[in-house]
Amino acid sequence: MKSLMNSKFHGTLRVPGDKSITHRALMFGALSEGATHIHHPLPSEDTRRTMECMRALGAEVEEKPEEWVVTSPGAKKLHSPRKTLYTGNSGTTTRLLTGLLAGLGLSAEMEGDESIAKRPMDRIKRPLAEMGADITLKDDKFPPIIIRPAELSPISYTMPIASAQVKSAILLAALYTEGTTVIHEPSPSRNHTEIMLKQFGADVSAENGVISLEGGNDLSPSDVTVPGDISSAAFPIVLAVLKPGSSISIENVSLNETRSGILDVLEMMGADVTIEQTSSEGEAIGTVHASYTSNLKGFEISGSIIPRLIDEIPIIALLAAFSSETCTIRDADELRYKETDRIRAVIDELSKFGIRFTEHDDGFTVHPGQVSIEENTETKGYNDHRIIMMLIISSIVMDTPIEIDDISAIDISYPGFMEDLETLRKDA
Ligand code: S3P
Repeated sequence: MKSLMNSKFHGTLRVPGDKSITHRALMFGALSEGATHIHHPLPSEDTRRTMECMRALGAEVEEKPEEWVVTSPGAKKLHSPRKTLYTGNSGTTTRLLTGLLAGLGLSAEMEGDESIAKRPMDRIKRPLAEMGADITLKDDKFPPIIIRPAELSPISYTMPIASAQVKSAILLAALYTEGTTVIHEPSPSRNHTEIMLKQFGADVSAENGVISLEGGNDLSPSDVTVPGDISSAAFPIVLAVLKPGSSISIENVSLNETRSGILDVLEMMGADVTIEQTSSEGEAIGTVHASYTSNLKGFEISGSIIPRLIDEIPIIALLAAFSSETCTIRDADELRYKETDRIRAVIDELSKFGIRFTEHDDGFTVHPGQVSIEENTETKGYNDHRIIMMLIISSIVMDTPIEIDDISAIDISYPGFMEDLETLRKDA
């Protein structure tokens, strides 16, 4: 990390493929009879967990450079796994797969790492059980998850929280359930499942927060080209905005409206960020140019923007610390249920940089002031990829090397993160 101090960051970058889209392409590929080609997939720890689970159900996944090919005998010929499915650190694998297995009427047991063991699964059990699924959880809330075959019926479900994982688990279960399943979202969560289901031939519609799916139809294989992940791009973008003399471009990145809330925040702050959209078919894609900006304005965000930037809040907290005005994030209670309690982790670790916070149940306020950290201060990454990358960017922006207990979890979502930063580095 030392080599990245006292530098400027310049150049053009392509970040790894979108994590949410890669998970879904693997699952929909496994459900479709024939071959699905996934171009520019994200080869990360989380997506490999989904890959292994699809193999355990009877799909083949061939890994070529920049392309994965899923070959499946079709949904009806997938089988119950012979061993407990291991989902590692991946909430998306765990939750979506529960819906998929229940929908196929298979038997399975599923467990993950220490973090997954503490993440709430009752949010998926509730609607799936309403459909008739037989799901057992530890203490009726946590993994391990046991799924037993059961006949499902369609439901009309109003989601209490905006969660793409819950929405997608219901849609996956609904795929093989005769009749129309209807989901009402309180505000828009990421819509990759709806977009990709259409591409694979499902009878699905989404309008004004209501998603309907007509079950009982087979999916057909399709080619998926995965755009760069905006949640990964967020780290170099913020670095360029905060580091004097820096200017970078990120090409081929997802600009999907349900994911691009961080770009709205950068605009509110008056950051020198411009966006060029190059494609709007299915998933919107484009280039983001970001340059150093002094005098960032404050912001107050809450309500429907929150699901559109939920994974970016740790790095947005760092941006906020460089504003000359107060910045507030509310309605983000969901952050307490991520890989770690990200409200606590952000406040505990960024306070070590002299950043002043007021904690709220559902977010925090960041107060303007001087920030700095003593060299080699010990910080904690909580094995949470987004907290670790936020700490690394903080250290670079402040030109002060720090200690982080363990950075290996970066590979959950952004393998090659340190190498990409090195590529952009220009000696000041
Ligand atoms: C994801 C949905 C979001 C997000 C997670 C990935 C997905 O979680 O935070 O990183 O791929 O569906 P929730 O659905 O719990 O909001």
